[in-house]
Amino acid sequence: MRQAEKKQLAAQAALEFIEPGCILGVGTGTTVNCLIDLLPDIRSKVDTVVASSEETANRLRAAGFEVSELSQSGDPDLYIDGADEANKHFHLIKGGGGALTREKVLANASRKFICIIDDSKWVGVLGKFPLPVEVIPMAQSYVARQFIKSRGQPVARENYLTDNGNAVLDIYRLTITNPLEMEQRFNQIPGVVTVGIFAHRPADIIVRASDDGIQTLERR
Ligand code: A5P
Repeated sequence: MRQAEKKQLAAQAALEFIEPGCILGVGTGTTVNCLIDLLPDIRSKVDTVVASSEETANRLRAAGFEVSELSQSGDPDLYIDGADEANKHFHLIKGGGGALTREKVLANASRKFICIIDDSKWVGVLGKFPLPVEVIPMAQSYVARQFIKSRGQPVARENYLTDNGNAVLDIYRLTITNPLEMEQRFNQIPGVVTVGIFAHRPADIIVRASDDGIQTLERR
């Protein structure tokens, strides 16, 4: 099965978790785009949608939804998003699409966080995918030097600004053996807005699509 079909399958499976009257947080990325394409089919179940990026907000509007701000919607019942990597502890790397800060806010605000992935995202140890880090622009070089001290290889995302007007560093060659500790430590570097490790707020459920179909993994 092609990766695109797996993304479609994972998005379809996530629809079952949307209950009537739901305040739904919607992530960012190609897997979530499959979900957005399916949302009009269950429009009556969705009370309110909140978006994790301008791109997602635009897609939701194009699909006929009015998009609310988190400050008005109240905490989402459910947040559905993809990931760049996921492990058996439900820890994730996110931010390949640059939306990591708003994604982390929504994941933390939501009662339930469902991560939809194809099996190429499933790893033993996080870090093969370069770790996205959102930084305020004036601190970019300083923050990059701090990651070099941690044996990372930072690469600035060129000609790119996040929805919040910040820069993104992609940190290569990090082996994230202790996601909880590393998320906390990297977050404390002055100038860092958000690191793309999602360990303190892991996924509650991972819906993983593979050639064998859908596996739904629930965090205990
Ligand atoms: C967006 O900033 C990311 O966190 C995405 O959730 C992640 O990159 C997954 O994207 P795809 O579904 O496109 O692989």
